[in-house]
Amino acid sequence: MTNRLTGYQSSEPKVTLNYEDGHNLVLDILTSQIIRVFMDRNCTTNSYAIQGDKHHKTNYTVDNKGDHIEVRTPDLTVKAYDGRHIDFFDGEGNPLVMDYRGRRQALANDLDDEHKSTVLAEGHDINLLGKSDDRHYEIIKSLSPDEQFYGLGDKPGFLDKRGYDYDNWNVDFGQVHNESVKGIYKSIPVMYGLKDSHPYGLFFDNTYKSHFDLGKESENYYYYSAADGNIDYYVLGGHTLKDVVANYTYLTGVTPLPQKWVLGYQQSRWGYSTSDKRVESIADGFAKYHLPIDVIHLDIDYMRGYRDFTWDTTKYQDPKKFVAEMKKRGIRLMPILDAGVKKDEDGYDIYQEGVKKGYFVENPDGTVFVGRVWPGDAVFPDFGRPEVRKWWAKHIKFFADMGACGVWNDMDEPASFDGELPKDLVFSDGDQKSTHAKMHNVFGHLQAQAAYEGMKDATGKRPYVITRAAYAGTQKYSTVWTGDNQSIWSHLQLAIPQLNSLGMSGFAIAGTDIGGFQKDTTPELLTRWLEASLFVPLFRNHAEMGTRYQEPWAFDRQTLDIYRDYLNLRYRFVPYLYDQLRHETESGLPVMRPLVLNYDQDPAVRQLNDEYMVGTNILVAPIVNQGADKRLVYLPAGKWLDFWNNVEYSGKQTIMVNAPIEKLPLFIKKDTILPWGNKVKHISDQPEKVMTFRLFGDCGAYKHYQDNGLDFKYQEGEYNEYYVEVAADGQVTVQLHKHGYQPTYDRIYVETDRGRFEFDYDRKEESYHLAK
Ligand code: NOJ
Repeated sequence: MTNRLTGYQSSEPKVTLNYEDGHNLVLDILTSQIIRVFMDRNCTTNSYAIQGDKHHKTNYTVDNKGDHIEVRTPDLTVKAYDGRHIDFFDGEGNPLVMDYRGRRQALANDLDDEHKSTVLAEGHDINLLGKSDDRHYEIIKSLSPDEQFYGLGDKPGFLDKRGYDYDNWNVDFGQVHNESVKGIYKSIPVMYGLKDSHPYGLFFDNTYKSHFDLGKESENYYYYSAADGNIDYYVLGGHTLKDVVANYTYLTGVTPLPQKWVLGYQQSRWGYSTSDKRVESIADGFAKYHLPIDVIHLDIDYMRGYRDFTWDTTKYQDPKKFVAEMKKRGIRLMPILDAGVKKDEDGYDIYQEGVKKGYFVENPDGTVFVGRVWPGDAVFPDFGRPEVRKWWAKHIKFFADMGACGVWNDMDEPASFDGELPKDLVFSDGDQKSTHAKMHNVFGHLQAQAAYEGMKDATGKRPYVITRAAYAGTQKYSTVWTGDNQSIWSHLQLAIPQLNSLGMSGFAIAGTDIGGFQKDTTPELLTRWLEASLFVPLFRNHAEMGTRYQEPWAFDRQTLDIYRDYLNLRYRFVPYLYDQLRHETESGLPVMRPLVLNYDQDPAVRQLNDEYMVGTNILVAPIVNQGADKRLVYLPAGKWLDFWNNVEYSGKQTIMVNAPIEKLPLFIKKDTILPWGNKVKHISDQPEKVMTFRLFGDCGAYKHYQDNGLDFKYQEGEYNEYYVEVAADGQVTVQLHKHGYQPTYDRIYVETDRGRFEFDYDRKEESYHLAK
């Protein structure tokens, strides 16, 4: 029996569709390009991803067309039919997201128990197809032969996700991350599609465990299913894929501007923080080998017995003094903080206070749940409760008081060595009691929020938080890294699509462990990984204790020299990256991005896994294969200049590029001006006095952003903008738009093929003049 569509009510901005079975579907028109589809299934309706009301007054029409109801905004048309089938079209009538009318044909699993144990006996893993606990409801959409999928956060695999299936359930996944793995630390349920070249997005705002099958089960449909929760998803439209991504970040928030030094180089290793002497020796290495650096990370060993918010004074004589001394040397320290709090009745205030106030997650019988992490028995803060987040945020001040530069949240899936926490544990969802099943995927998100707010309150600066686990919208509070990768070439290959996908999922500041975390790196792998990461916003080398050392000087002279060259080059590009991040906060578009985001109408880039762009004018094509010293590079439309020798290439072609070990293939769009940072060892808190701009090509224009790089004063207008232009006739101009930031550059250089132009600041006129 068809479930008839019996009528509708329209009450701005919502259209409620009535069905015979009594379950209404609500179309909530947020903007001309964003429509939410909602069906109440008796679950709370608060969103962890979206903050505030995102409605824009939108003109729309509703018409009864006989066999369907049609809702139309200038950019999206929805047609609703019997059987609760809804179809979305773009403003020109092109199909975007169409409900599938057929039935799902679950992939058969023909394994009987006897054969199953035979396969398992050899230690092979079997993926029990179609058997999953996440099928509370399914949303099935039809698939075109020409349709690609992007996004989904950190899911390991290729850029185009078509043909694969994924789980959204945050896991501490210690094995090799590859395309057959269904999910790792983060659950970012946003996907983008290009259906017959028409872009759209789907964001499923449901924190319960969910599943995407993107054309693995069938060539005819893709589907999303969830273990529980309301039907609550957003169809995102837009004229370009960029518009669609911007609509997603409009909904869930942008990555805020970081402190500028966050873009500097960061060195880490599990094992450095065993003593102040050890950390100091790493800093000494950077000084000795003339290597720039901004941050050293402190892994779990700085703590007293792995207790959160403690610092072991047997290993650090005077931690606060030590942090201050390091800061004087230009190096900031970034301590790790684990989700699990040591169960310790013996004078450990965090545990005792938390127990007394009932702040930890409980078993259904009301006792505190005890898992096992680094400190042994451990309990987990119930971050879903605002009061618990406030309490945690208050303790975050400990790091600020110590002078630490931020907080690195780890094990926040949350992970326990005893395996997954039971689904029925009692977690809070705001002021209501809830379950682990509902709150699991937002645990890391809420912990990051607490860390962000705690650091902001304590320092007044832009907080630097890194988290391993995340949900949609975590980008508002934290940067991310991709967790425990390995020192293998396939993980260098993975880094590019993974970071590009994170970028499209809102995470503009993300990074991988350069050199690889688990297993032993090689000089060649480390070198290529560093080269590949030249523009990766979170630029950190990190390794597991017990693996081969991978500091820049750990190998031969050649590796060290190349490492130094790329670190120096990175610092030259920091002003550009900072400008790009400023742009990201305004446009909602990532800094590091796949070519398909800039060129969505070019089929040649839709499955391009080994190149990335930085904004719109830099193209990076790293070497990601062992032994390779040349590679094919696809250049999209336009004219491109080889960064190293200025040779010009036309786009829309694939070229062969030589890339001996010291060379990263790098291309700049012709007629681009780039800011070119000064050669420094650390990013200073003091304003720069001199800035250089380099022209690539014959003419160009560039807008450069400047603020104090530290706090929130820019939000009150304390920033400057510089407009640099080289006209076709060769005339060079520099204009300052002063918005209230006092320091300006004393001198600006503009470097072109015709020479180096020097501009001096005229304090009285507040403008720049070409020096005579
Ligand atoms: C797991 C994290 O992913 C890794 O980066 C860290 O070094 C270890 N935990 C130890 O804290």
